[in-house]
Amino acid sequence: MKAIFPVAGFGTRFLPTTKSTPKEMLPIVDKPLIQYAVEEAAVAGITDMIFITGRNKRAIEDYFDRAYELEAELSQKAETTQLEQLRAVIPDGVNFIFVRQGDAMGLGHAVLCGRPAVGDSPFAVILADELLYTVPGTPNASQQLIAAYQHTGQAVVGVGHVLGKAIERYGCVDVLETDAQGIMSLHGIVEKPTHVDAPSQYAAFGRYVFPSVMFDYLAGVKPGRGGEIQLTDAIAALIADHGAVAVNMDALRYDCGTKMGYLEANLDFALRHPELGAGFKAIVEARIAA
Ligand code: G1P
Repeated sequence: MKAIFPVAGFGTRFLPTTKSTPKEMLPIVDKPLIQYAVEEAAVAGITDMIFITGRNKRAIEDYFDRAYELEAELSQKAETTQLEQLRAVIPDGVNFIFVRQGDAMGLGHAVLCGRPAVGDSPFAVILADELLYTVPGTPNASQQLIAAYQHTGQAVVGVGHVLGKAIERYGCVDVLETDAQGIMSLHGIVEKPTHVDAPSQYAAFGRYVFPSVMFDYLAGVKPGRGGEIQLTDAIAALIADHGAVAVNMDALRYDCGTKMGYLEANLDFALRHPELGAGFKAIVEARIAA
């Protein structure tokens, strides 16, 4: 399977940092956000990572390229740990493909830009600013979606439960019955409804798996909310003809597109970190006690 990572967004919520640094390169403790997304995909067996990029995003291409000078320097100094860390950025057997989205016409348009690179196979879409943590040794979010796709043969939307008005910030799914595998059949999906109009409290959390026919729906959909080509509208059209399912992902989710979610992710990932966790916990506890 291939995966599309739409990374062309401006990251306006993180200005001024994102004036020249892609938001996907912001670190969560010691790795940029995009690396968490790529590692999740690689563990799920995805071999082709397709980035839909834009202006100011060249740092992502450089990050996933070899750094010969740096590697030569580190190996000369026998800095093996750092060398391994550097090489681990690029998982084995993985290809990186970069496509420029010339016009910023929305998430649906970004995904459509990946069509020539995906071709005729099913594909995942991963939004890197939604960081999904799963306990090591359990299936990660992309694995959970791919399993549901293999089980049903239908498009899969990864969702999570949100409280109250929070639903107004997301694509919201209208779900029907849940089967024995915990897969919900999808009746509809709507982009950022008002709280009162929301068909459920289940929000799309940036993970999807689609059959390749999805590209026809993306190509056919009219500009929607905010005048943009919405991924959600194309899913709604796809559901009508082909059906789709939703998976309530078993994962802890951090909305790293917001400052608060980003801080929360850094706090939790630091506390869980094998080398930094204990020392960091002591600092946090001392601060709270003060
Ligand atoms: C996008 C999607 C939305 C989804 C959200 C997840 O919205 O359009 O359906 O729920 O990502 O983060 P955005 O956050 O780009 O406004």
